[in-house]
Amino acid sequence: MKNILVIGSTGQIGSELTMKLRREIPGATVVAGYIPGAEPKGELLESGPAEIADVRNAAALADIVTRYQIDTIYNLAALLSAVAEKKPLLAWDIQINGLLDILEIAREKGCAVFTPSSIGSFGPETPHDGTPQDTIQRPRSMYGCTKVATELLSDYYFHKYGVDTRSVRFPGLISHVTLPGGGTTDYAVEVFYAAVKGEEFICPIAAGTYMDMMYMPDALKAAVDIMQADPDRLVHRNSFNIASMSFAPETLFDKIREYIPDLRVRYEVDPVRQAIADSWPDRMDDSCARAEWDWAPAFDLDTMARDMIAHLSLRFAHTR
Ligand code: SER
Repeated sequence: MKNILVIGSTGQIGSELTMKLRREIPGATVVAGYIPGAEPKGELLESGPAEIADVRNAAALADIVTRYQIDTIYNLAALLSAVAEKKPLLAWDIQINGLLDILEIAREKGCAVFTPSSIGSFGPETPHDGTPQDTIQRPRSMYGCTKVATELLSDYYFHKYGVDTRSVRFPGLISHVTLPGGGTTDYAVEVFYAAVKGEEFICPIAAGTYMDMMYMPDALKAAVDIMQADPDRLVHRNSFNIASMSFAPETLFDKIREYIPDLRVRYEVDPVRQAIADSWPDRMDDSCARAEWDWAPAFDLDTMARDMIAHLSLRFAHTR
């Protein structure tokens, strides 16, 4: 990993991953790819090159790869699960037609490619507790369909053409830098903002609904470590279960109340998100990631909640 293109560099993951790669990979050039309307700002803009990188414009992507001699592509462009239900054809276009173009560019120019998969790649028939690495998937959401196809296409390009594709199945990601946009797990981010600002939180997911979640520093570490893993140890590639915590909404709210006792919550369940959440794993088994590339998360529910509250309290100190 020396010359890296991050597609989706201003999104929830990209905005932090781009900065981490710039800080931590010695001598690396990390190009912040973005789409018009989501331009990089501040430190992200000032700390390295930025280019328009729309996955629906293959010629422009190929040009960036050539000009910067890109060897690794982080392909983070995606519509999340709830938005993808509203715009299924656009989700397919970005997530699959876009991916195919990236894989073709990678094949021609010799790039490694990371395209995340998700808990969303699983479905109602998947074993929900201790979800194995290799198991029935069959999601019913368009997001899930694109994620399964992503896993299959990425493995296809590895087996057929030797393209170095690797990936992880992200849980719901909790972070304080950039908000997620339109996912089923977003509630677990948004409630922290409400708690810190002293606002009532309307929860779209029913009490008792367990989903895998992860704090962003662990997710970023996974994205970097998997691309640096010894390929000889990898039995799997696309895509590894990774896990660190699993909770239902009320467990998270009780945890936040240990630090912000006056958090107010009302449930107004969104049937679209609830159906998606019900079809996803409660808790994934990540033993293959642990065995094949030494995956180990650092944050649990308590350390994540304390860190989130500390960061957001600083940012919103004036609003309470
Ligand atoms: N966080 C995503 C979503 O909720 C799942 O990967 O759509």
